[in-house]
Amino acid sequence: MLLDTFGRRAVDLRVSLTDRCNLRCTYCMPEQGLQWLAKPELLADEEIVRLVTVAVRDLGVQEVRFTGGEPLLRPGLVGIVQACAALDPRPELSLTTNGIGLARTAEALRAAGLDRVNVSLDTLDPDTFHTLTRRHRHHDVLNGLAAAEAAGLTPVKLNAVLMRGVNEEEAPALLAWCLERGYELRFIEQMPLDAQHGWDRSAMITAEEILERLSARFELTPEPSATRGAAPAERWLVDGGPARVGVIASVTRPFCRACDRTRLTADGQVRNCLFATGETDLRTALRSGADDAELAALWRAAMWGKKAGAGIDAPDFHQPARPMSAIGG
Ligand code: GTP
Ligand code: 5AD
Ligand code: SF4
Repeated sequence: MLLDTFGRRAVDLRVSLTDRCNLRCTYCMPEQGLQWLAKPELLADEEIVRLVTVAVRDLGVQEVRFTGGEPLLRPGLVGIVQACAALDPRPELSLTTNGIGLARTAEALRAAGLDRVNVSLDTLDPDTFHTLTRRHRHHDVLNGLAAAEAAGLTPVKLNAVLMRGVNEEEAPALLAWCLERGYELRFIEQMPLDAQHGWDRSAMITAEEILERLSARFELTPEPSATRGAAPAERWLVDGGPARVGVIASVTRPFCRACDRTRLTADGQVRNCLFATGETDLRTALRSGADDAELAALWRAAMWGKKAGAGIDAPDFHQPARPMSAIGG
C-alpha cells in the first residue's frame, strides 16, 4: 500500500506520458513552448507498463489516469492502455486530454480498454479559443468530444479554466452546452503551476465567483459531501438534477486532506503531490536493474514523505520547479 504519515492511502495513479503539447494555453506555457524532455530521458512504453504493474499489483493502485502534456501525442498510447487493461486486478483507466486527435483515436482507445476521458475546453467561441490556446484547433476539440462519446468513453467530463477578461462571462453558456450533451462540466480554479510563473492570486477566478455566475442562470443545490470521496470536484445538482456541475477549488478550498493520488512523470519520477518540491527517481533504479520489490519500496518511501497539503496560501509557498505540463494535470 502507498500510505503517508497523515493516514492517507494513494489508490489513484496519474501517469504523464509526455511533457509536450500541441496547444499553448496562456495559463500553462509560453508561446514558444518549453525545453522538452529528450527521448532517452522519457520512459519507454515497456518501462511505463512495468511501473504501472508494480503500482497495481504490489501497491494497491486501483485507478490509472494518463495525462501529459498532451497524452494523445504519445505514439504508443493505445499499446500502453491495452497492457494496463490486461493487469490483474484490472485498474480503471482514464485519460485527461485537450481532445485534439481524439476523433482519430477514440475507437482504438476504447477497444484497448480505456474507460473514460476528461477533455479540456475553456470556451465555445473559436476566437476566444485561439486567444486562450494560441492555436486554431477549436473544431478539432469539438470533433474529439463527439468521437469520445460515440466510442462510449463515458461519462465524458469537461474541464474549464476561467480567465479574467477572456472567458469569465462564458461560465453559464458552457454549462448549458454541456447539459444539452450530457457532459459533466467542472470549472477549475487556476493554480500557480504555469511555466511563466505569472499566476496572480488576486486575478484568479474563485470557486465562489464561478458559483455566483452560474447561479444567475441555474439553480444549484450542493450534492451531499458524503458522495465526494477523494474527488477534487465539489458538485452541485443543476436545476434539481440529475445533471451536475463541479468546481475544483484547489486554491480556495483545497481537498488535500482526502487526497488519494500518486504521480509518475514522463521521465520516471514519482511525485507524492502536484505541489511536491522533491521527486523520487524510479527511472535510474529501473534502468540499473532494480527488481519489482525494490521499485515498490522506493515508491512507498516516496509517498510516506507526502506533506499535509499544497499550502498555496502559506507564507512560505514556493511554486514547484516543474510546470503542470511536465508533472501531469
Ligand atoms: P475524475 O473526476 O475522477 O475524472 O478525476 P479528476 O477530476 O482528477 O480528473 P482530471 O484529470 O480531469 O483533473 C481535473 C483537474 O483537477 C486537474 O486538471 C487539476 O487542475 C486538478 N487536479 C488533479 N489532481 C490534483 C491534485 O492532486 N491536486 C490538486 N490541487 N488539483 C488536482
Ligand atoms: N491551473 C488550473 N488548471 C490548469 N490546467 C492546466 N494548467 C492549469 C493551471 N495552472 C488544466 C487544463 C486541463 C487540466 C489537465 O488542467 O486546463 O483541463
Ligand atoms: Fe497543453 Fe494542457 Fe498546457 Fe493547454 S493546459 S498547453 S492543453 S498541457
